[in-house]
Amino acid sequence: MKSHWLLWSVLCVGTLAVFVLIFAFWGGDNPRLGNAKEYLPIRKWPRVKEVSTDEYSKVHEMVLRDQLMGTVILPRVPEVQGLAAAKHPQDVGIVPPQVCGQCHAEHWSECQQSPHFRTSSEPCREGTPGRYEPPDNRVESFHPQAWFEVVAKPNGFYQQLHIEYQGQAFLHEARMDLVIGSGKVGQSFLSWSKDALHQLPVSYFTDGARWGHSPGFHYAEGTFNFARPITERCLDCHATWFERVPQTLNRFARAEFQLGVTCSRCHGPGREHVEHHQAHPNETVSHAITNPANLNRELAVAVCAQCHSGEAELVSTGFRYHPGEPLAEYLVQSSADAEVDNTTPDPHAANQLRRLEKSACFRQSDMTCFTCHDPHRNERGREKFLVDRCLKCHQPDDCHQRKLTGDAVDRLCIECHMPLVEYADIRRPGQDSMPIPKMRDHRIQVWPAATTNVLQRLSKPQPEASKAGVPR
Ligand code: HEC
Ligand code: HEC
Ligand code: HEC
Ligand code: HEC
Ligand code: HEC
Ligand code: HEC
Ligand code: HEC
Repeated sequence: MKSHWLLWSVLCVGTLAVFVLIFAFWGGDNPRLGNAKEYLPIRKWPRVKEVSTDEYSKVHEMVLRDQLMGTVILPRVPEVQGLAAAKHPQDVGIVPPQVCGQCHAEHWSECQQSPHFRTSSEPCREGTPGRYEPPDNRVESFHPQAWFEVVAKPNGFYQQLHIEYQGQAFLHEARMDLVIGSGKVGQSFLSWSKDALHQLPVSYFTDGARWGHSPGFHYAEGTFNFARPITERCLDCHATWFERVPQTLNRFARAEFQLGVTCSRCHGPGREHVEHHQAHPNETVSHAITNPANLNRELAVAVCAQCHSGEAELVSTGFRYHPGEPLAEYLVQSSADAEVDNTTPDPHAANQLRRLEKSACFRQSDMTCFTCHDPHRNERGREKFLVDRCLKCHQPDDCHQRKLTGDAVDRLCIECHMPLVEYADIRRPGQDSMPIPKMRDHRIQVWPAATTNVLQRLSKPQPEASKAGVPR
């Protein structure tokens, strides 16, 4: 009997403690955002912690628990003699896209403008539109005495952390070596420490054309983190080829890599194809190259699902998938099957495939991703083009709604049948938020709420300003 009471009180106190903790960390108005100075006692600055990649996950836990407030977290530079010898991409058969362009000039010129090609690059003034001059290059932190600056120097672009405390000045500077993202939503920047890659604390946000704290790692909330390791999976979705140093998480052969998602990721490496056709210039039948259009549907959509099936983990090494092979030998899909795929901790890449597979369009036709998308092109802002894709299989009159609304619906198929959804709300309080725009739900069906919204919009007179933004 007595032990029961003991158990109960332990349970009650425990539950209470959990609630108090939850409230303290996530509840309502977060005190540290309201009054940062009070919340962040500064005793001794700068407090610098160098962490190796192995130690990082432990340190990250501490960051999440707010135990490293005010700490400058720097990567411990790996002790390597020289840099790992690199295989040239050609050694694994990967051909630079300009070589493909020698015979496929049109695809090459289209592709260069595509978000795929531009999704990773080396920084340059044109490709990284952020401003490098004061005051626009400054990003505040929650410490009034600490801020970031993004600067352009003759030999490259840098991110600097400045701390001024009790008359002392502290500066840490890291070079922006690689850019991730074509800039639709924004861009993140990676820096080499010897042959290890880390994400830098400042990212560029297209919305507002401004620099801000990189998403996700409580950057804004009082740690100055230069040590977030960049994993192979990150590059696997955003680049064509990197060679990871075996048994390491974030060390890569620095001499050779291929940026952008280019031809080889969707068509296979290509060297044999190129050599064959160079040797047989009159041959018109293709040799040793994969055209996704000739694969069965499961394998055809797998080409895109390498990177567009949400959270999925590499089975072993990245950059080894050959289009035409089953994807399961390369990636393990998460088994979660939420209505809307918001189960991933970092859901910035949605799972279009899983949603599309649920649609009648997909189930009752042989549709693939490239029925609607031309992955060689920059299709942004070309909704008309995508509406035309619906009309490949449908007549406008297939839509019962049309009988009620008339031809006003013709341009708007997508608005009602593939509404914009928030895949996951990962906006955190304060500035530390990734402004992930809403994305198209690829489950094509009748969505009553979306229909109501569109009908309401149609019944309102359009203000002049928004008419100007209607895509042609
Ligand atoms: C020396 C010329 C040459 C080069 C370089 C070349 N190709 Fe080709 N490619 C051809 C010819 C010829 C064909 C067959 C005719 C056609 O489909 O245009 C072909 C066809 C293709 C096809 C269609 C295959 C099919 O069976 O439907 C794809 C896809 C392709 N090439 C991709 C590439 C990629 C990717 C590269 C770079 C890795 C590349 N090609 C480099 C000459 C070349
Ligand atoms: C599963 C594949 C995948 C992984 C892993 C991944 N991304 Fe992405 N990322 C995408 C896709 C797909 C998009 C485009 C989102 C969309 O519109 O569907 C994207 C978008 C972005 C953007 C915005 C690009 C723009 O033009 O607006 C940035 C920046 C970015 N990712 C950075 C990263 C970084 C840094 C990592 C690793 C830490 C990473 N991503 C890991 C697939 C991935
Ligand atoms: C993101 C994936 C992706 C990338 C990158 C890509 N392709 Fe393709 N490519 C495809 C798909 C999918 C098809 C089939 C399209 C279809 O039939 O609608 C295709 C078809 C082709 C064809 C056959 C003719 C045609 O247009 O249907 C050629 C040739 C080709 N691609 C060349 C290239 C070259 C050259 C590059 C690089 C400069 C490249 N592709 C980059 C996915 C890609
Ligand atoms: C190796 C990874 C990879 C593969 C393979 C891939 N994609 Fe992507 N895709 C990306 C990334 C990363 C982005 C985000 C590009 C950015 O804006 O930085 C993207 C963006 C897109 C977009 C949005 C473009 C825009 O306007 O912003 C579409 C549509 C798309 N991919 C379709 C496809 C299709 C269809 C296939 C298969 C034929 C495919 N992708 C294959 C990685 C990939
Ligand atoms: C029935 C047509 C259709 C099919 C099939 C389709 N998409 Fe889309 N997709 C769209 C439309 C429409 C948009 C929104 C384009 C816009 O807003 O500019 C879109 C947008 C996207 C985007 C950009 C991010 C977003 O959601 O706004 C990506 C990435 C994408 N699709 C990938 C895929 C992949 C991968 C497949 C195959 C699994 C696929 N799509 C199949 C119609 C289609
Ligand atoms: C490859 C052919 C194809 C394309 C492209 C296509 N559909 Fe379909 N769709 C079908 C088929 C087949 C069905 C099932 C038979 C039917 O209802 O007509 C269907 C069904 C539908 C339905 C009824 C869904 C339900 O759950 O009852 C809607 C709504 C729809 N499509 C809208 C669209 C829209 C919007 C687009 C463009 C973004 C599109 N479809 C593109 C083939 C296609
Ligand atoms: C204003 C919102 C809206 C727009 C825009 C719209 N639809 Fe629909 N659509 C609906 C609704 C609601 C239904 C179901 C009506 C019913 O069954 O009475 C429907 C039904 C359909 C169906 C048939 C479903 C079935 O059960 O047979 C198809 C196919 C379809 N739409 C395709 C399209 C295409 C293609 C376009 C663009 C040309 C389009 N829709 C534009 C709201 C819309």
